[in-house]
Amino acid sequence: MLIQDVKKAAELLREGKIVIFPTETVWGIGADAKNTDACQKIYRVKERPSDNPLIIHLAKVEEISKYGEISDDHLKAVSAFIPGPLTIILKKRDPQLFSCGLETVAIRIPSCPRAQEFLQEFGGAVAAPSANISSQPSITRLSDILETFDSRVDAILSGDDSQLGLESTVIDLSKDQPIYIRPGMVSLEQLQKHLPTISRYQGSQNEAPPSPGMKYRHYAPSARVRLTSSLCNLETATSHKKIGFEPNADQLVDSNESYAQELYSFFIACDREGIEEIWCQAPQPGHLYDALMNRLLKASNH
Ligand code: TXA
Ligand code: MG
Repeated sequence: MLIQDVKKAAELLREGKIVIFPTETVWGIGADAKNTDACQKIYRVKERPSDNPLIIHLAKVEEISKYGEISDDHLKAVSAFIPGPLTIILKKRDPQLFSCGLETVAIRIPSCPRAQEFLQEFGGAVAAPSANISSQPSITRLSDILETFDSRVDAILSGDDSQLGLESTVIDLSKDQPIYIRPGMVSLEQLQKHLPTISRYQGSQNEAPPSPGMKYRHYAPSARVRLTSSLCNLETATSHKKIGFEPNADQLVDSNESYAQELYSFFIACDREGIEEIWCQAPQPGHLYDALMNRLLKASNH
């Protein structure tokens, strides 16, 4: 059911229902973070592995320290990006938060005005993963949300298509040294200006991943995803489509920013048409290169 009223959406969350809502990165599927039953409903609807924790969404920077432990220096540093597409992992402060048994909590404050309205109206913490079926591409357009979820959730809060198109960057501030875990709309270079000691996660195969979600397949359409440096002279399957910077692309993009905005909706449209193979041109060096390559490699099951 599509609803317009944020008051109604917040009321449904208070009743233990789940509500899909827009954010500037991708759409989210939310529940009251202190209601375990409601949070577990999200796992059923998304078919999400039960050990993959949820990000807690809040309305205001001032609320962060109610839910997690953060030093003044770290708070000052991340305030350059928050509200916005950055998620921080902190030691958990509120034992009532649903957290898959972890001692940490991931916190994000979206900047999208519609998400802000909704979170302010609710007034508490909203646990929300990306609104997609697990392992499939995240969703950035209301029309795709309605097609996938209309009959599966209690309510969908109306809103605009996501402005950015890829998920938030995730960093871990719960250890001695900040770690850059999931590349996203905020780059490592941008973060280093404010958190000079932050380093890229360098995991070994024997070690548990710092983020449970890292071990699962993600962002993949049913079509086979192929990466290429150029869209010319490809040896393609009969049914294929191309996204990239060259004029023969079916989905033409002119920057990494527009690539990020179009990627998931293009994957979803190709699946709807029954396309067998999607050729993706490598992104341009510079901002969002890391984030786009991370999604493209995972989608191609690299
Ligand atoms: O842009 C976004 O971040 C979107 C919008 C809706 O906010 N959300 C999103 O959520 O992408 P999700 O669940 O698809 O990805 C969250 C990632 C997962 O890989 C999960 O494992 C990790 O964050 N995560 C959540 N809580 C964690 C924790 N306490 N420790 C380590 N990783 C955590
Ligand atoms: Mg996700």
